[in-house]
Amino acid sequence: MAEDLVLLEKKAPLATVIINRPKALNALNSKVLTALDNILDSLNEDNEVRVVILTGAGEKAFVAGADIAEMSQMSPLEGAGFSRFGQLVFKKVQDLKKPVIAAVNGFALGGGSELALASDFIYASDNAKFGVPEVTLGIFPGFGGTQRLPRLLGKGLAKEMILTGKMISAQEAYEIGMINRVMPQSDLMEAVKKVALQIAKNGPIAVSIAKNLVDVGYDIPLDDGCLMESRSFGMCCATEDKKEGMKAFLEKRKPEFTGK
Ligand code: CAA
Repeated sequence: MAEDLVLLEKKAPLATVIINRPKALNALNSKVLTALDNILDSLNEDNEVRVVILTGAGEKAFVAGADIAEMSQMSPLEGAGFSRFGQLVFKKVQDLKKPVIAAVNGFALGGGSELALASDFIYASDNAKFGVPEVTLGIFPGFGGTQRLPRLLGKGLAKEMILTGKMISAQEAYEIGMINRVMPQSDLMEAVKKVALQIAKNGPIAVSIAKNLVDVGYDIPLDDGCLMESRSFGMCCATEDKKEGMKAFLEKRKPEFTGK
């Protein structure tokens, strides 16, 4: 069933989304992208979920890219549609109202690296491999990789990865600032859950707006970003969570945020 291609494990305040096509190293075909798209919509509306974790089924791959067998049959028009659909689903990851952490548990190639890059940050296991090998197939990254990679790494490193198509280890990805942490595979999910719970304890409206400010502000002039920050700050001052957070501090207790 299409919905089995992406699993959702919810344990409020966390939800784990698992790309579940391990026999094809979790490669993204149209059905997987559609299932992921639907799950993202449901998570956006789910007020019990405060942080989303994104990972791949099995121990070998996060996502080994877009599905090469499906792409091999595509006409130019179908190729453009597939690329655009992938971009829009990944934009939904980026724009989700709650943080998304990628737990990269193995190969993250092509669309797999691009999916991880659309998340808010990446933790990886030490067997993980990153790369955008599309040029070795006569194509190039088509799910946002030519745009997100240079924004994160700078043009030189991004072009080196995109134009060579080489794979790098999780350790190298850490050293160039592509990922936040690398650890043994057995520790990965615990570490990701720990940081996710730390985020989930905070005011959810503040977390959501801060996420969006970083993303939107990154692509606009500093002054415009700062202006947007002040206006959003004012909006945040209207929330019950702001009252509760500050009251709790003054009363020397832990806050109980409601997301209102
Ligand atoms: N699409 C479709 N099937 C894939 C796949 C992909 N991206 N990656 C792996 N698979 C399938 C293999 O065909 C194989 O299937 P069969 O058992 O039916 O033959 C199965 O997964 C296991 O893969 P391998 O036997 O190749 O495993 P390996 O350990 O020898 O190699 C690997 C692992 C290095 C990741 C290798 O599978 C590989 O190079 N995969 C392709 C990686 C890639 O090029 N990704 C970019 C795709 S293009 C893209 O993503 C475009 C875009 O931006 C829009």
